[in-house]
Amino acid sequence: MNYEASARLQADRLMAAGHATILSLETSCDETAAAVIRDGREILSNVVFSQIDLHALYGGVVPEIASRAHVEACDRVIDQALREAGLGFPDIDALAVTHGPGLVGALLTGVSCMKGLALSLGKPLVAVNHIEGHISANFLTHPELTPPFTCLVVSGGHSHLVEVPDYGEYLLLGQTVDDAAGEAFDKAARVLGLPYPGGPRIDALAEEGNPLALPLPEPHTPGRYDYSFSGMKTAFLNAVNRMEMTGQTLPKADLAASFRHAVVEALADKALLAARETGARALAVAGGVSANRLLRRTLEARCREAGLPLYMPRLELCTDNGAMIGSAAFFRLMKGEIAPLSLNAVPNLRLV
Ligand code: KG4
Ligand code: ZN
Repeated sequence: MNYEASARLQADRLMAAGHATILSLETSCDETAAAVIRDGREILSNVVFSQIDLHALYGGVVPEIASRAHVEACDRVIDQALREAGLGFPDIDALAVTHGPGLVGALLTGVSCMKGLALSLGKPLVAVNHIEGHISANFLTHPELTPPFTCLVVSGGHSHLVEVPDYGEYLLLGQTVDDAAGEAFDKAARVLGLPYPGGPRIDALAEEGNPLALPLPEPHTPGRYDYSFSGMKTAFLNAVNRMEMTGQTLPKADLAASFRHAVVEALADKALLAARETGARALAVAGGVSANRLLRRTLEARCREAGLPLYMPRLELCTDNGAMIGSAAFFRLMKGEIAPLSLNAVPNLRLV
């Protein structure tokens, strides 16, 4: 029997049993990450090798360096994930890999690695959308969470509000018309001279600042549930330039706190508005920016007030990791969705 027929047969058996232990790999940007996940909900291991040190010198991710580092780290990270789970390749039922969105070279290293592994082990391979992975981090943190729910997706490349009527199904409520929230944080951090990656630095610095020190404009967007961060980013940049030109010492903590406050207010306002108007059963948050301390506190307070259940990933599952890919893969596998060996990287893969 050829690989694809055999993989289909195994996937059918796993679907019938309703169980699968999945080895997953994530290489879409600057983290080489592998994990072993049981039944989409249980983390047996989760190994993240961050390349931040390699890119920090350049103030952002350098695609060629990322691809090369992934090639070098893949095998090691996979070995470690298996070792930490106390399992070997024969114990793995299926493989999973992020195939988009992300940097094409970085994605390709992961896709090639897992296609090779799938073929040599003769096991089914599941292709996962990175953003769907972020959303699935909530299934690992909250075993009781099931669709339907509404999700605020806020990462370095995406700011979306989506309805999740069922596993793997998404309806777009709104999205950013310009920068993503994480991107806005990173740009504001650069203006303050903070090193890459800027989001967590702004967040830490903001804890000591006055959020009302610099008022920033509220965004105006075409759609009711859309986001826009470029107006507040430009106002922030102009204010900092003005201070520098007049020789003022930058009140960095106040500036960071003001910017964080403006972004978080916008994120929380629209998320709560959409949840209320669409009659959402619960609100979930996903993506790197869901680690933001003020966003977490603000959503906790507003959801409590609104009587709306709130789900956020555990901190280490907010930013890129392999566990979230293994979780998303399980629910795809249970629908019989496996990838052919012709699977390719899709840098601009959409969620909806
Ligand atoms: O989801 P992620 O790890 O990668 C993408 O898929 O893009 O998100 C990375 C983004 C970066 O822009 C980073 O600055 C931001 O998430 N981020 C934060 C925080 N932690 C990570 N932004 C604000 N506050 C944080 N604590
Ligand atoms: Zn991500």
